[in-house]
Amino acid sequence: MKYELANKLDEEVESTRSLKVARKAIRAFLDILEMGDEVTTPLFKLAAEKCLKNLRFLGEIHEAENVHKALIKRFPHDPQHRNQLTVAYLIQNKWNQAKRTLEETLIQWPNDGLALVHYGFILKIESKDLINAVEYLQAGIQTGDEGTADGRFYFHLGDALVRLERSSEAEEVHKAGARKGLFLSSYQRAVHYISRLTGRPWWTAEQTTYEDFYRSLEVNWRVIKEEALNALFKSEQSFQNERENLLHKGEWKEFEIFSRGNKIQRNCDRVPRTCDLISSFAPTSECQRGQVKFSVMTPGTHIWPHCGPSNCRLRSHLGLYGLDGAYIRVANETRQWQEGKVLIFDDSFEHEVWHNGSLPRLVLIVDMWHPEVRAHERKTLPEI
Ligand code: LMR
Ligand code: MN
Repeated sequence: MKYELANKLDEEVESTRSLKVARKAIRAFLDILEMGDEVTTPLFKLAAEKCLKNLRFLGEIHEAENVHKALIKRFPHDPQHRNQLTVAYLIQNKWNQAKRTLEETLIQWPNDGLALVHYGFILKIESKDLINAVEYLQAGIQTGDEGTADGRFYFHLGDALVRLERSSEAEEVHKAGARKGLFLSSYQRAVHYISRLTGRPWWTAEQTTYEDFYRSLEVNWRVIKEEALNALFKSEQSFQNERENLLHKGEWKEFEIFSRGNKIQRNCDRVPRTCDLISSFAPTSECQRGQVKFSVMTPGTHIWPHCGPSNCRLRSHLGLYGLDGAYIRVANETRQWQEGKVLIFDDSFEHEVWHNGSLPRLVLIVDMWHPEVRAHERKTLPEI
């Protein structure tokens, strides 16, 4: 009887997409779940599933925790419900709760692949315990359990191995990820990608079709440099430490003027002519998957090999100052910057930077849509 009522509400949500009815349906399904053993197993599972579907519809992940807990209580011998609770915690960045749940899961099911990979993932990202992260990620992937062949687990296992300077093992992981179709190739490991886009590590201006824009950057490089040096020397605070945890040693700061297609006005005010140049070029100023920033690094800096998150953008660097002794490797080719010249690469390919020179190295980083990303995609792709 109760189920029929809940189901009727659920059907109404399907046809009307009403948030109010969805809320009622959720309540009705939760009532069923609260009845515990009085409900048959198939009905209990169905009620949980439909309740979760409505919660997703409303975007109420927090409430979903209670559904997963009810499932765990009713089916204590099935680790899948514990794993679903873990994922719900992770989506909400509740790292500690996810970690604790996994620790309990792993006591009962030490060989559960999903629990192992998720635990490794948390150790890598949250606890920065690389050695143990590698152990858990490897063990989890080795089970071959459903859900363990996921690019994020391969990505972070490879990255942890790189940072532990176990590079040949990292290479094997990257190759395996590419073989399984989780990466575009072992060097190109973006987690968000469109597979039809041409992928090559280094680009020429002609290949991008954006020659005129690059020429305008090169023609104006001295103005851009003056603006950047002024901003840097007048108040060093305007440059912020890089935030992506990519720095191995040294010091690396940036001064961002566009972020995900938005102009950062207070910073633009300090480098107005640079900003005007960028504003006039839509593939950059409207690139929701990119940034524009000045990047400065002190001598002795090394940036770990890493891949950008998306293959939908290209990255260009305009060399400005202190370039001697600084190197950038993209895939298997290393280059150097030159004053007033643009380098163009696809930062979803593995790249690495080191600076052995004696002056702070300053470049302007300008991202832009990959030329093959279509007009409607440029408007609709979620930002990164
Ligand atoms: C990167 O894009 O990761 C680096 O090339 C940045 C930089 O400042 O060289
Ligand atoms: Mn990078």
